[in-house]
Amino acid sequence: MSDRRAIIIDTDPGQDDAIAILLALASPELEILGITTVAGNVPLELTTKNARKICELAGRPETPVHAGASRPLMRRLVTAEHVHGKTGLDGPDLPEPTMPVQPQNAVDFIIDTVRAHPDGHVTLCPLGPLTNIALALIKAPDIAPKIARIVLMGGGFFEGGNTTPAAEFNIYVDPHAAHTVFTAGVPIVMAPLDVTHKALTSNARLDALRAKGTPVCDAAAALLDFFDRYDEEKYGTDGGPLHDPCVIAYLLRPELFSGRDCHVAIETGSELTMGMTVVDWWRVTKKPANANVLREIDATGFFDLIVERLARL
Ligand code: BDR
Ligand code: CA
Repeated sequence: MSDRRAIIIDTDPGQDDAIAILLALASPELEILGITTVAGNVPLELTTKNARKICELAGRPETPVHAGASRPLMRRLVTAEHVHGKTGLDGPDLPEPTMPVQPQNAVDFIIDTVRAHPDGHVTLCPLGPLTNIALALIKAPDIAPKIARIVLMGGGFFEGGNTTPAAEFNIYVDPHAAHTVFTAGVPIVMAPLDVTHKALTSNARLDALRAKGTPVCDAAAALLDFFDRYDEEKYGTDGGPLHDPCVIAYLLRPELFSGRDCHVAIETGSELTMGMTVVDWWRVTKKPANANVLREIDATGFFDLIVERLARL
């Protein structure tokens, strides 16, 4: 067994998912046991295709890609083509992938992989709705104490929501799955909008990526050029938030981030605030913490890391 940190990336690519996957594939500290796909930004068929496009862009077609849930546990699927484009990966013209989708379903792959490794060995990295992770925990509760931790992008508290005033997209799409995950007793690190909205892809940062002049850096810049346009208009900023790569960057360089251990509850009852992550930042409930909630980031260090790593591919 290698010394590298063993991870499973659960994802719904998505341009920012794509940068997260590239960052992980470029980082020798991480052993990517597999990529599992879920319906989210676009339907499952497209997120599965997009994950394979990114592996091939990185020159890593041997990466196992497993398709998972095609819809949330209880609610109808909400997608985000208005943000990510019709394909989910609009921007550069990436070729149709030829690498296979693995025959095993994502949920069973997660269960078997966690069981096959020593306790505390496998870290799960969800970058989309938490449907696959919840289904794995429901089908095989014995894996909960074996998972090292779950480092996820999702939620928002001080910053509010980006899909409704109260809810962030990943949690809003499948709040019941999020509730299952946040009550499973697995250590969680949560990268909410409070931190990702401080990781803005300014023009200068995209220029630094383009200046590397490699096919991967050029494609990444084209992905982000497309992705940013929506949030730049929405928030009036130079650049948009680069959400999902925060998860991988946290694994590589946790000192770039700071946060606080808090109790986090997920709203599943009220339509008005459905999918809200209720973070007890001030510890007013005295409920035990179930997540480390990130709030601050060294954005310069974060982008330097992305540019340096992506240039290696
Ligand atoms: C999250 O939603 C998706 O659109 C992004 O890929 C990210 O995972 C941000 O709210
Ligand atoms: Ca995502």
